[in-house]
Amino acid sequence: MQKPHEKPQGMTIKKVRKAVFPVGGLGTRFLPATKSMPKEMLPVVDKPIIHYAFEEAKEAGIEQFIFVTGRNKSAIADHFDYSYELQHNLTNRNKDAELALVRDWLPPAGSIAITRQREALGLGHAVWCARNFVGDEPFAVILADDMVLSKKPCIGQLIEQYNKTGGNMAAVMDVPREKTKSYGILDIERTEGKLVTARGLVEKPDPKNAPSTLSIIGRYVLDPGIFNVLENQKKGSGGEIQLTDAMNSMIGKQPFYGYRFDGIRYDCGHKAGYIEANIAYALDRPDMKEEMQALLKQYGANIK
Ligand code: UTP
Repeated sequence: MQKPHEKPQGMTIKKVRKAVFPVGGLGTRFLPATKSMPKEMLPVVDKPIIHYAFEEAKEAGIEQFIFVTGRNKSAIADHFDYSYELQHNLTNRNKDAELALVRDWLPPAGSIAITRQREALGLGHAVWCARNFVGDEPFAVILADDMVLSKKPCIGQLIEQYNKTGGNMAAVMDVPREKTKSYGILDIERTEGKLVTARGLVEKPDPKNAPSTLSIIGRYVLDPGIFNVLENQKKGSGGEIQLTDAMNSMIGKQPFYGYRFDGIRYDCGHKAGYIEANIAYALDRPDMKEEMQALLKQYGANIK
């Protein structure tokens, strides 16, 4: 008999090779910064948010990177492209270290795909827009504005778990009950270590109706069957096509797990979270730590 959290018999587990980065949102909470620049190009210390997401995926063994963009997002495509003039200038000036910063991490040609969402109809719709690039294999989804500072890449932790159990998986963490209305929340069937089996998912429940306080953050490993569900998915919370609703309707046909990841998550979708991420990532950098600590002490002393 199959034990809880074991791969169901007969289920084949394919390698997770592709990651989808939905970056089609409007980023209204960062206007006017996001008027002509995507939210995902905002820097944390000295790298755009989307660059961290890309590095996380690459470190986890992802080979193909699929960006679902919207209008005003061409800076993202440029960031991941060869930058002829800049590279030429830096080469001529013998600025080798700077050259490495713009060139050395570029993925091999052909490993990046970019498609447009056209209309920001919601996260579920953005993921559905990637269907032809993903095809019939499990895939990762990374929301760049959820940053996770961890020893092991958060999406890598999920993939490792997926390789043992299969199914669908989302990174989860506990949030204060009054915050459940900002997140997708798990209705928990059982818990075994870091792995939680969900019997249901609710998008942005009112705290008094929330089935738990375990919230989904922006890291997923999904079965391609989700695309068929998303194709007919009705608008949900906020009038948007929600990924959580589509995942919820797959439960019963396929297992759905939450994985309590190791690491600290920073919600860069709102201003205070973004500023907190800048501080945390700067403190994590050996070349900046001391300067930051001195600055923070100075501010701490001045706070009344
Ligand atoms: P958010 O809920 O943060 O929305 O999206 P947003 O539009 O980016 O920002 P605000 O709320 O207007 O400030 C969560 C993630 O889903 C993506 C966003 O790019 C972000 O990574 N998303 C959202 C899409 O790709 N398309 C959408 O239609 C909506």
